[in-house]
Amino acid sequence: MPHLFAKPLKMGSVEHFLAEDHVRIDDLLQRTIGEQPTIDYDVYKEFRRGLLRHIAMEEKVLFPTIQRLRGGTPLPAVAKLRLDHGALGTLLMPTPTPIIVDSIRTILKAHNALEEGAEGVYGQCEQVPGVEMENLLRRLQAVPPVSVVAYSDSPTVFAAIRRVLTRAGYDSEGG
Ligand SMILES: [Fe+2]
Ligand SMILES: [Fe+2]
Repeated sequence: MPHLFAKPLKMGSVEHFLAEDHVRIDDLLQRTIGEQPTIDYDVYKEFRRGLLRHIAMEEKVLFPTIQRLRGGTPLPAVAKLRLDHGALGTLLMPTPTPIIVDSIRTILKAHNALEEGAEGVYGQCEQVPGVEMENLLRRLQAVPPVSVVAYSDSPTVFAAIRRVLTRAGYDSEGG
């Protein structure tokens, strides 16, 4: 498999770059569970790595940069996005099951819709005065892979999942 970000994006927008990453990550999630209700653990591993790095790009580069340019005030939608990232990060901790994959899929669908599109956060970020698109893109691309820890299936993890799902406004029933 070629390196995930082997293709440098010299031109293009932050939205284009991150929305393309959404497509790639969605595709991996789709392939985690095919026709059969069984999990492809290798594909899920790739998905997990990809999503964690994507979240790191937003949390460590995009959001702080925009917040700084806005004099320390984050964009209003960022609080909800951060709660979603917390929920997603926690859902990535245990060994995946069809229910976990389904919860991740539900959150990602709503989450990505808040980030993409005409009213989306990515577009809002691009319009913040003083934003240097090329520099921002370069720094997003330079975010290193996140070190991924082994799955943890302790009761503490599942209690945390219920907590973060509720806090982010998702129903945690059935988990
Ligand atoms: Fe996000
Ligand atoms: Fe995103």
